[in-house]
Amino acid sequence: METRNDTAGLIDRFNRRVDYLRVSVTDRCDMRCSYCIPKHFKDYEDPIDWLTFDELTQVIRVFSTLGVRRVRLTGGEPLLRRNLPDLVGRIAALPGISDISLSTNGARLDRQAEPLVKAGLKRVNISLDSLDQGCIEKITGRDALDSVLNGIKAAEVAGLSPIKINMVVMAGVNDHEIDRMADFAFSGGYILRLIELMPMGDTARGQVGLDLSTEVREKLVSRYDLVPSASELGGGPAVYWETRDGSGAVGFITPMSQHFCATCNRVRLTVEGTLLLCLGQEHSMELRPLLRAGISDLELADQIRLAIELKPERHEFREAPQKLVRVMSRTGG
Ligand code: 5AD
Ligand code: SF4
Repeated sequence: METRNDTAGLIDRFNRRVDYLRVSVTDRCDMRCSYCIPKHFKDYEDPIDWLTFDELTQVIRVFSTLGVRRVRLTGGEPLLRRNLPDLVGRIAALPGISDISLSTNGARLDRQAEPLVKAGLKRVNISLDSLDQGCIEKITGRDALDSVLNGIKAAEVAGLSPIKINMVVMAGVNDHEIDRMADFAFSGGYILRLIELMPMGDTARGQVGLDLSTEVREKLVSRYDLVPSASELGGGPAVYWETRDGSGAVGFITPMSQHFCATCNRVRLTVEGTLLLCLGQEHSMELRPLLRAGISDLELADQIRLAIELKPERHEFREAPQKLVRVMSRTGG
């Protein structure tokens, strides 16, 4: 197979190195988070258009020859894609890839954590916005708390580490639960990540987010006597604080109050093969037609280089919150 080891890697027009690929393996989800998929959404991609595991593996292989080391599988809900461990195994077999992770709503992890780990999955981010059954039902549209908690346990038992818990904070919905979530995370040995709501789609724009860079953070820091974390916990935009004994950590992801576009290191592939260069912009390249025309690895590498040239400088969530942007389930969280 033709591959070329490219030491230059992928550098965009703003001198950012892209070494991280997020791959959405389905745009479907079994939840309906109030800030994500609209309640009666039906307009899913046709399965014929989903990239096959062969196609996904080719794209990831070529990215790996261009310096991408880390891959995250996302959705929608990635555990809805059949035979996901098979895909994980294929990615794990690529010599350039050193880290495979998964973003999931956790409800199906109970049964899938073990086969995923066996296939090569290393770590997992699980969405959990509340520990209150009623509140979870209100946010996700499902009575999902127990299944998510079981999923978290299963992830732990299967050896996924670290386990990060993602909490999107919404004013008047779950902001009163931040301390409770921190207690839960610290006692379970999980890393809690508090995320500012981004105006992705009408659903998210219908919710009220919260600035997590000021009082919320100060309160948490003083309540738990947190100190800025020196250790590399992410390699992403989260800024981590930890307990003095280092046993617990909280990450703050603040795309709204303090955008971190200058250090953006990632691009996203949607299930139908669109390479998205930015979470909050439309700049993209369609890879599916190229893949289905039998493009070689070398030619695909050239196309990906061209795509990286299109990566915009930053999102405009604050300046243009009304701009139509895909919801997260279509973007690849
Ligand atoms: N703003 C912030 N976070 C979001 N997520 C989904 N939609 C949004 C949004 N509009 C979160 C999910 C999940 C992660 C992949 O992204 O809750 O934790
Ligand atoms: Fe599903 Fe995640 Fe969107 Fe919730 S945020 S509806 S769990 S894709």
